[in-house]
Amino acid sequence: MRIPESKIAEIASTADIVQVISSYIELKKAGKDYRGVCPFHGDKDPSLYVSPQKNIFHCFGCAVGGSVFNFIMRIENLSFVESVKLLAQRYSVRLDLENGNPARQDSREKLFKILELGRSYFVQSLNKVPEATNYLLERGISGEWISQLGLGFAPDQWDGLCNRLSALGAPIPEALSAGLIRKKAGGGYYDYFRSRIMIPIRGLNGELIAFGGRIFGEGDPKYLNSPESEVFKKKTILFGLEAAKDSIKKSGFLILVEGYFDQISLRIRGIENVAAPLGTSLTSEHAKLLKRFSERVITIFDGDEAGIRAVKRSMPILLAEGFEPQCVILHEDKDPDSAINRIGTDGFQRLIESSCSMIDFFLDHIQSQYDFSGISGRNQAIQECVPLLRQIADSPERDYLIERFASRIRVREDQLRKAIRNTGVSQFVQGGASRKRGSSLFDFPADERNVVRGMILSGGFIEKVKKAGVLSEIENATLSRLANSLIRFSEERGTFDSRSFCIALEESDLAALVASWLQPTPEEDDLRAEVDGEITINESMERLRSKKILRRKSQVEEMLRKCEPGDQEYNDLARELLNIGRQFRR
Ligand code: UTP
Ligand code: MN
Repeated sequence: MRIPESKIAEIASTADIVQVISSYIELKKAGKDYRGVCPFHGDKDPSLYVSPQKNIFHCFGCAVGGSVFNFIMRIENLSFVESVKLLAQRYSVRLDLENGNPARQDSREKLFKILELGRSYFVQSLNKVPEATNYLLERGISGEWISQLGLGFAPDQWDGLCNRLSALGAPIPEALSAGLIRKKAGGGYYDYFRSRIMIPIRGLNGELIAFGGRIFGEGDPKYLNSPESEVFKKKTILFGLEAAKDSIKKSGFLILVEGYFDQISLRIRGIENVAAPLGTSLTSEHAKLLKRFSERVITIFDGDEAGIRAVKRSMPILLAEGFEPQCVILHEDKDPDSAINRIGTDGFQRLIESSCSMIDFFLDHIQSQYDFSGISGRNQAIQECVPLLRQIADSPERDYLIERFASRIRVREDQLRKAIRNTGVSQFVQGGASRKRGSSLFDFPADERNVVRGMILSGGFIEKVKKAGVLSEIENATLSRLANSLIRFSEERGTFDSRSFCIALEESDLAALVASWLQPTPEEDDLRAEVDGEITINESMERLRSKKILRRKSQVEEMLRKCEPGDQEYNDLARELLNIGRQFRR
């Protein structure tokens, strides 16, 4: 069930946050804000702030915070939707729920229909372009599989699909909502997908909900996905899951890969329990979805360094949902697609059998980095583990995990617990830091935090960050979720403001984080000037960008070593390396 965002905004503006919260606790005016004793932790001081201007509440004591809905969720112990309903009822806002609403059912059906029209056009176009079919055959996808998967081709043309749809008399608004076509600035429409191999994306019941388009030849972006629509929500979809269901049941586990072609390659070679996120990192929605199908997840990562980065991001998400995630690291191949092409199905099965616990992989990595025999090595190890452990704060496995981490890095459990409880603030603020706190400004890697916070405080910064391509550099899972959701939000409506964003944010932990950023403590405010003055948002972005370029540089250097000088590939790589050098001199 979904409540339209405009409705949510209407309820939020009717159910005044100060009024709502003061029906539960006493609030006193303090400057522009209101203060009261927080009902969510044992406290006598008025550490809960409510800001009518920003439309948020935030407790400096326990770091709970967010919109009026987040307050109701917590105090009434309700889901987001339930808390919206409750306030709608209390404030007499009419809610015409969409659930089971025939109009809505109808609009979904219309989208499915138009997507099918698109697909038949793409299939016909593929048949007319032998080079495109050959490309797929060369990638090991037989003619039979091409038709079974429904693969197609979007020709290098601006009006092919538009013409087809108008010849069929298909409705334009649906084609627009399905993301098949777009409006031209000067009037008229154009095809969204051009010169791309088209991969159908299906929902859990096999219904066509979107497309992924891989560029045919060179070009940017390499993959273009359908935009979000009523039937396509990226963060809740895993590519291939509908086809993998039976096999997951049989084998008892699911293999998580990164790309479309990884999923396809494994599937057509007989390994069917495979799914892939759609170009985003794993979200907790994904993990919840997986939980419905399997207790075991094996993730395949490429390369040690990329592997460790990916582990840091996805491990807490999987742990928080109660998985004990396993992983396989590819050392010789760049992705599962190349691996299975090289070693075959049996070889790949053996690789899967050799999977190890993600936790062990992570702890092995930590152990290889620091010397646990000394205090400073152990402290550094604690620093690496704390951000991960903090993200699984509410999981039932928390105690067990702390025990396991503590024994591996050879510290006492209570010492690790203390480090998890204490936030960075106490390390910055001398004295006066006895408060227990949850997430704060200082809990995150500074550059990553600055970039994400920068996007929230100044919507204009979002485009800049997207342009710099540094989003993929955000390793912290919470920050990465937040960044993804704020980008989705701004893309869906074409603008961004932190107030409406906070209201629409369903995840309590993210809402609390945003609220704490919008409402810093006085100490933090002072410190922030210091920290941010030195580490400005732009500098943080540049640092993330350099990190990315440097990583690409070492990849290119590595590949160059494996090439014959004079080859086309060698020349291309050498040119890229030269370009990288130039970017740094800029
Ligand atoms: P990769 O760049 O590793 O591509 O991106 P790939 O899957 O190996 O593709 P081939 O083998 O070169 O054809 C992995 C995944 O990241 C997403 C896609 O889902 C892709 O499958 N992605 C990648 C995007 O969404 N956009 C991009 O521009 C690139
Ligand atoms: Mn690939």
